[in-house]
Amino acid sequence: MVAIFLSLLLITGFSAAITQQGNSTISLGSSLSPNTKPYWLSGSGQFAFGFYPYDGGFAIGIWLEKIRQKTVVWTANRDDLPLSRNVTLLLTNDGRFVLQDEQGQQIALTNAQQPASSASMLDTGNFVLYNSNLTIWETFDAPTDTILPGQPLLAGNELASSISETNHATGNFRLTMQRDGNLVQYPSYIPRKSQYAYWSTGTYTVGDNVSLNLNRNGRLFLLNSTGFNIGDLNKPGNPPSYQSRLTLDFDGILRLYSHSLSQDDDWSAEWSPSNNDCDAIGLCGINAYCTIPEKKAVCTCPPGFDFLDRGQHNLGCRRNSSTVGCTSKNGETVDVLQELERVEWEDNPYSILSLSKTECRENCLKDSECEAALFKDQECRKQKFPLRFGTERQDNSGTTMIKVRFGSSNTTQVSKERKKQQGMGVIFGSFALLGFARIVLAILVFALIVLAFSAFLIFRYRLWSYKKVPYEVNEGLVEDVPLRAFTYSQLEVATNGFVEQLGRGSFGTVFKGALHNGQRKIAVKRLEKVVAEGDVEFRNEMRSIGRTNHRNLVQLLGYCHDGFNRLLVYEYMSNGTLSDYLFKSQIKPNWEERIKISLNIARGILYLHEECKTHIIHCDLNPNNILMDEQGCAKIADFGLAKLLMPDHSKTLTGIRGTRGYVAPEWLKNLPITVKADVYSFGVVLLVIICCRRSIDVNAPEEEAVLVNWVYDCFKANEVSKLVPEEVDQQSLERMIRIGLWCIEEDPAARPPIKKVVQMLEGTIEIPEPPCAQASFQH
Ligand SMILES: *[C@@H]1O[C@H](CO)[C@@H](O)[C@H](O)[C@H]1NC(C)=O
Ligand SMILES: *[C@@H]1O[C@H](CO)[C@@H](O)[C@H](O)[C@H]1NC(C)=O
Ligand SMILES: *[C@@H]1O[C@H](CO)[C@@H](O)[C@H](O)[C@H]1NC(C)=O
Ligand SMILES: *[C@@H]1O[C@H](CO)[C@@H](O)[C@H](O)[C@H]1NC(C)=O
Ligand SMILES: *[C@@H]1O[C@H](CO)[C@@H](O)[C@H](O)[C@H]1NC(C)=O
Ligand SMILES: *[C@@H]1O[C@H](CO)[C@@H](O)[C@H](O)[C@H]1NC(C)=O
Ligand SMILES: *[C@@H]1O[C@H](CO)[C@@H](O)[C@H](O)[C@H]1NC(C)=O
Repeated sequence: MVAIFLSLLLITGFSAAITQQGNSTISLGSSLSPNTKPYWLSGSGQFAFGFYPYDGGFAIGIWLEKIRQKTVVWTANRDDLPLSRNVTLLLTNDGRFVLQDEQGQQIALTNAQQPASSASMLDTGNFVLYNSNLTIWETFDAPTDTILPGQPLLAGNELASSISETNHATGNFRLTMQRDGNLVQYPSYIPRKSQYAYWSTGTYTVGDNVSLNLNRNGRLFLLNSTGFNIGDLNKPGNPPSYQSRLTLDFDGILRLYSHSLSQDDDWSAEWSPSNNDCDAIGLCGINAYCTIPEKKAVCTCPPGFDFLDRGQHNLGCRRNSSTVGCTSKNGETVDVLQELERVEWEDNPYSILSLSKTECRENCLKDSECEAALFKDQECRKQKFPLRFGTERQDNSGTTMIKVRFGSSNTTQVSKERKKQQGMGVIFGSFALLGFARIVLAILVFALIVLAFSAFLIFRYRLWSYKKVPYEVNEGLVEDVPLRAFTYSQLEVATNGFVEQLGRGSFGTVFKGALHNGQRKIAVKRLEKVVAEGDVEFRNEMRSIGRTNHRNLVQLLGYCHDGFNRLLVYEYMSNGTLSDYLFKSQIKPNWEERIKISLNIARGILYLHEECKTHIIHCDLNPNNILMDEQGCAKIADFGLAKLLMPDHSKTLTGIRGTRGYVAPEWLKNLPITVKADVYSFGVVLLVIICCRRSIDVNAPEEEAVLVNWVYDCFKANEVSKLVPEEVDQQSLERMIRIGLWCIEEDPAARPPIKKVVQMLEGTIEIPEPPCAQASFQH
């Protein structure tokens, strides 16, 4: 059956090629097209370079021609497929290697600097462009998900998995040969941090320029820059009689395969660093967990959850909307904790309690924030959704209790049903056998190819580049946020060539711009120090900033991540910075307005610290990055740029410098930075607003130059009225000064949390006397 389909594929896809002979030397003026000559063979006919049928159209790649599966080992421009039937691949007479569409439009296929004089499909599986006897470009330098014997994975290069067996676009996992010598496997949809690596060789002390190598005998080893073998990864058995390859499969598992001479055989997996197909972190997406019921990894939703996309089970699960929030006839809902055994999740609790299992249950049920509780060893770890990195473990991983809300009457019934239908969808075909799934896939591919003959396909013009930013759709873990991604040139147009500067901050310069033919004004911040290193990290940070939404925060509208350019697009604030508002405008805000502004800022910080999904420490709060809108409402800008708040709230941040006069003393002492650093900065900003003067005023008499010291002196001397330019209510003034003094306490622990500060400003709680015996503030 399968053989019939595969031969059909061959006949339909390659009909024109059947009689053609290969030639290993490709001269200038040669061309390929799916219609006439689809591929060039290597000298022995083992490898082919050219068009292969893909997703109803074609892709350009290299495959093993002599075996039945025609396994593809390299794909060009993998994220911009399929290609239409009417494209042509040309090695032009002037030495360019280009893809030409029906309209004659040409796209360069390589980044080669010199013109080619010939090309060759080598028997190693390497496709090479030469300029006389020099290699100017080769596919071995730009691997996709596979390396072949003799193809080193050099320092700084990586393999990227495909989305699935049939979808060759960039998927979710990477094998990176790091410049520090370590070979590491990471998921690519979350920041590349060591805690998310799921395998590594640990060779980060052996020097740089280490490469991963595979030889003809199927031996995998690391070489250092002087060519010394610094370690074998496998113990090779018998040398493969025909071919081997190392592939980062779409399930994130690295496998070394070998193939025998017999063309009807299948690849057999010889070696893998993983012994469990659920090893790749986050394979199943959010709120889902990976199990291996019968040799194959399967993604499963916990009780009360359903797949985000029933056709693609590795995208994760969401709450079953028909059970959440539904009410019975009398309008009651019931929260139920459903239990799962032996499933391990990312350990990311917001609260850890020492309780018995029953107490843990009760505690979570009563706590409206608690969405799940992981119970193990008498510890109750309360978590919020999404749960991530779920996998079934044979060892005792404890119990997961998941809160499910039902309409009261049908509770138990529903949950039983759910248990049965919890997605047991097999997403991964067996690698050794041609299972049912493959037959279905073959039918699908066949159907698509047939479709291609009648369908009109549009070839998409894209820049040819192997480092394409992966599509959003590949990043299953991040929620959709309507953030717009801009190109650099779009923003160049929007800002009229970056002419009108609005200001400069510690992170970069801000320019005025407009979108929609000038209808919507924007502020574009050009980051000067790149905040996050990796592409994925940057975009994830953008998303976490984009997810924030509060009336006292400046809204991020989009970003640009284009080459080396990193720009942020914000809503435009017509009244400029707080600094200008206080010090430069003709009319100073009155006392009530100043209190209102202070409260605006405190509420914005409260949202960042406690209310938004990813808690954020601002790290550089000062009057230059607080902006004023048309109504004189204050909004905080630049949040999230320093770094995301670490879950333990105490990670030391380095490399960021706050603004002089506003930074907390712990910065200068190199102590861990917590949310209390923002409380300190807020305290100074509050005093600046209240007193309507700068934090450091070199023109003032010496004892008044540093605002915080002067406030402190006046407070001690009971002369706070000296601090404000106008007559104000003495009691109100004193309250504000007290709040400010509490916030700028030397000891971070003594400063109130921002929530308390908001309550103090609102006047809903008492403000105790600030501790008096104080060292003076010197900075
Ligand atoms: C290969 O191509 C070269 C030049 O195009 C030609 O001289 C040679 O005869 C060809 N060899 C075969 C085996 O077709
Ligand atoms: C390559 O070509 C250059 C000049 O075209 C010549 O000097 C050099 O010796 C050649 N190298 C080899 C290895 O043939
Ligand atoms: C590593 O390789 C790069 C590029 O080939 C080279 O510039 C660098 O000097 C090498 N470093 C070492 C330590 O060999
Ligand atoms: C490579 O390894 C060899 C043997 O361990 C060592 O002598 C040599 O210094 C290493 N080279 C580098 C550049 O670290
Ligand atoms: C959600 O649960 C209901 C039962 O309450 C079930 O009938 C339905 O199929 C579930 N929905 C999905 C999308 O699975
Ligand atoms: C409970 O189940 C009954 C029948 O099974 C159904 O008619 C009723 O609508 C359900 N109530 C809720 C709240 O789902
Ligand atoms: C390819 O070109 C032919 C003839 O120019 C045209 O009839 C056909 O529709 C085109 N096919 C596609 C897929 O563009």
